[in-house]
Amino acid sequence: MKLKTIALAALLGGSLSVAHADTVKMECGSGATVKNFCDYIKQRFESETPHKLQFIDLPRASDEKLSMLQQIFATKDSSVIDVFAVDVVWPGVLDKHLLDLTDKVQDLQPAFFASAWNNNIVNGRVKGVPNFIDAGVMFYRSDLLQKYGEQPPRTWQELTRIATRIQGAEREAGNKNLHGLVFHAKAYEGLTCGALEWVASFGGGAFVEADGRISANNPKAAAALDQAASWIGTITPKGVLGYQEEEARAVFQNGDAVFMRNWPYAYLLSQDDSSPVKGKVGMMPLPKGGDGGQDAATLGGWQWSVSAYTKAPEASIALVRMLADAETQKQNFLLMGVSPSRTDVYADAEVMAKGPHLAQLKEAFASAVARPSTATRSEYPKVSKAIWNAAYDVLSGRADGTTAVADLEGKIKRIKGRDWK
Ligand code: GLC
Repeated sequence: MKLKTIALAALLGGSLSVAHADTVKMECGSGATVKNFCDYIKQRFESETPHKLQFIDLPRASDEKLSMLQQIFATKDSSVIDVFAVDVVWPGVLDKHLLDLTDKVQDLQPAFFASAWNNNIVNGRVKGVPNFIDAGVMFYRSDLLQKYGEQPPRTWQELTRIATRIQGAEREAGNKNLHGLVFHAKAYEGLTCGALEWVASFGGGAFVEADGRISANNPKAAAALDQAASWIGTITPKGVLGYQEEEARAVFQNGDAVFMRNWPYAYLLSQDDSSPVKGKVGMMPLPKGGDGGQDAATLGGWQWSVSAYTKAPEASIALVRMLADAETQKQNFLLMGVSPSRTDVYADAEVMAKGPHLAQLKEAFASAVARPSTATRSEYPKVSKAIWNAAYDVLSGRADGTTAVADLEGKIKRIKGRDWK
């Protein structure tokens, strides 16, 4: 009897260490393309490890996602979430809530673009593994540009002229729903991305510079915002003031816009068999702010991190490693169109056959402008909110560019106080 008990204990102990099963709670969205990806990773994780995967839905907008995570982490709650996506601007903000992955993922580093990997290092510790890279790009209707004998524009002024011309002529010919330009301009993180592109492309800086100096109040920044406001109600529908990325994509993909500012994911989806604009879409760098201006694409992208409060660290790390491998990044591209952060995926034949545009994107990634998240440290969410509110005021006609950037400078100064912390 005694022997039997010992044998049973040994067996249980042994099986526990070999196959201890945890349930990992991971954020996975609910949109159609995201769901396919969630199904893929669940199937793989549950067949290749003894663990189970459960999905949690978080809000769609980056800033709302962040607030929700901050609420969850405020109480060090371990029951809600283990693994989640982290926006490129958050590692410094969420730092203490992110499990230190340094020793668990360091071996993966050589597979990734260095800038994507380094973005997740906070105070020398690795706090996340890159998922995908983003940079703002301009999509255009290649069929319409060709019909009107126009080339993809190099400057915003040129884009405005072409969009005005094609919108006018097409509407006259009965294409009543056509708009010249759509983008996402709801008051949220996505508008900070757009505002930075306009301002930086005019040579107006990045609101706060890398050394922490506040630069928002300058005439080039004001002119860039005034130009964007001039589109609203002319070549751009007023509705954009309520759009996030997906609303802009819906209009463009339905064939109702000549130009669209969006992230690269929109390309593959626009080429789906069900898409009315299949075969009619071009992608180009965002225009410069005039002849003296520069190319400026906001750098975006997402990482995978683990909650510092997780009760299932080993299983969560196993999941992050699976999320970061070449096969997952390939599926991520094929199912959702997002740009891999691993260099080897760009050499995959199936990926390149479906995404010849990826080669072009490397340029956009190289010239991308970062939002001031490193300089403003834990205050980034407040600074970003001040930026998107200033841009929103100008776009909605509540303020002109000059007034808005002066007010914005004052607000950012108050957030900064003596120094960024
Ligand atoms: C994209 C970018 C992300 C950005 C967000 C704004 O998801 O990858 O960095 O914050 O758009 O809407």
